[in-house]
Amino acid sequence: MRSVQSRGWGIASRLTAAAFGLLLPLLALGVGATGLAQTEPAHPPGAVIASAHAAATAAGAQVLREGGNAFDAAVAVSAVLSVVEPISSGLGGGGLWLLHDAKSGRDIFVDGRETSPAAATPERFLDHNGNLDQDRAENGPWSAGIPGLPALLVHVAEKYGRLPLKQTLAPAIRIARDGFPVYARMAHGYQQRRAVMDRYPGSRALFSPNGKPIAEGDVFRQPELAVTLELLAERGFDGFYRGRVARQLVAAVNAEGGQWTHAELAAYGVKEREPIRFRYHDWNIVTAPPVSSGGIALAQMLQILEPYDLKAMPEAQRVHLVVESMRRAYRDRTFYLGDPDFVQVPQALLTSPAYAAGLRASINPDKATPSNLLSGQPTPLEDDETTHFSIIDAEGNRVGATQTVNLLYGSGLVAPGTGVLLNDEMDDFALKPGTPNAFGVMGYAANAPRPGKRMLSSMTPTFMESPDKVVVLGTPGGSRIITMVLLGILGYDDGLDAQQVAALPRYHHQWLPDVIDAEPGAVSPAAAAQLRARGHTLELPPDEAAGGRGSSHVWGNLQTVEWDRVRNVLLGGSDPRNPVGKAEVMVSP
Ligand code: GLY
Repeated sequence: MRSVQSRGWGIASRLTAAAFGLLLPLLALGVGATGLAQTEPAHPPGAVIASAHAAATAAGAQVLREGGNAFDAAVAVSAVLSVVEPISSGLGGGGLWLLHDAKSGRDIFVDGRETSPAAATPERFLDHNGNLDQDRAENGPWSAGIPGLPALLVHVAEKYGRLPLKQTLAPAIRIARDGFPVYARMAHGYQQRRAVMDRYPGSRALFSPNGKPIAEGDVFRQPELAVTLELLAERGFDGFYRGRVARQLVAAVNAEGGQWTHAELAAYGVKEREPIRFRYHDWNIVTAPPVSSGGIALAQMLQILEPYDLKAMPEAQRVHLVVESMRRAYRDRTFYLGDPDFVQVPQALLTSPAYAAGLRASINPDKATPSNLLSGQPTPLEDDETTHFSIIDAEGNRVGATQTVNLLYGSGLVAPGTGVLLNDEMDDFALKPGTPNAFGVMGYAANAPRPGKRMLSSMTPTFMESPDKVVVLGTPGGSRIITMVLLGILGYDDGLDAQQVAALPRYHHQWLPDVIDAEPGAVSPAAAAQLRARGHTLELPPDEAAGGRGSSHVWGNLQTVEWDRVRNVLLGGSDPRNPVGKAEVMVSP
């Protein structure tokens, strides 16, 4: 670790996730700015940012040094991620951000989720046999919802930031114009999606210039995206949703056979919603309400688990109870959750301690509850798709931001002339009731598409606050996001620090398929045997000593920051599974 003084801020410590390699060391290092406080301090001793790309973290740090607050920094981080992680999120996608305004003490959930175009009725996504047309749901013009991220950036900058968009978008504009080196994950993801992306001239021109596909180490430049960002900086909402960019977006979708209208773009609006709040042990948890499914599921799972002493429990017993809580929460996700502006979500019931107590009573401590019903489909790894960053600034403002274009490189469709890669978020709707989507989760009427409706998400930016600590955490990972955030909360509750939480091995259950999927090291061979004896089915990595027979994949890209108020230190944790992520702590002058 090295210490650098820069424009009045000391970068007390830094860490790239690369230092940890791809495996999952539980004994990961903490990143800390040290200094003991005599009494509990009112403000953090500096700022901390954790994101999935070092250039984005650096942009946020620069904006803070220029006098911006956490919300300005978030705009800068988000925009740079849109440029350097086209694989995960971008102006053509959406985001769900959780803000804490230190001055007013308010927590605000900003919903910049995509909306359904009016023409995208459920029938559009069925083939001639009445089956879900997966290609249409996941690729190309029909898969794309009306983007929300540009409006979200403008909204946060104008309402909560103190710097102009011209300043906070400047790093993203520069990187889009000058380029950045393609990294392995980005090149590999392109290879996976190239067949689809090659269908569209705008995508071919950007990702396979002169027929040569991007490769690791190439400098990747996006001059058209730089101009689109400049228009957003100059004209705000109208720079994207009206005028030239809007015309080019509509033209691109419609030229490929889709049906977007100018009115739909111009009508897009960000929503501010009341976050979900509940207690878990000493923690106040503040998290994502619908249109995310994450907060309700977290409230259910953690309130089911509340009375158990998980720390003291044998491993198999702990995993059994956590999995049973996951199973029950994901079942409810399937039936009840959708856009609250269109359907009545029974949020008060689902998040009540009494409901959790009922679910807890249904858990047999010695036996798995079979999920029975329909068999599901395996859930693919989603760590490259979607991204998350976490920020705490020196005033105590906080941002937890998760944003996405859905699957790898979204719809694969870049609108010519704009540099904007459109999302394929329509697949997050229940396009055919009871048919699993790309993440193996399904839904029914509550999440059916309707004109202007937002598709159900799993994005779960979350705050935790106890007398001793303030934490921001979140991650990509499709339907696994929620269980990763759950395990992160349990990790903090166990006393782990930010980097340890980011590195924590993961396991997941989502009701259907009725399987516990586990990363290497997440479930010991002995515990696995005991879980099987209780009736659980486990997908363990093939190299696990006792009967591992699943895939050896890892998932997630968790970015978390914490302010330890007792020691008055800031800590950042960047997921070691992603070698280009970075957490950075800046000490106040
Ligand atoms: N597209 C992934 C999610 O929002 O859950």
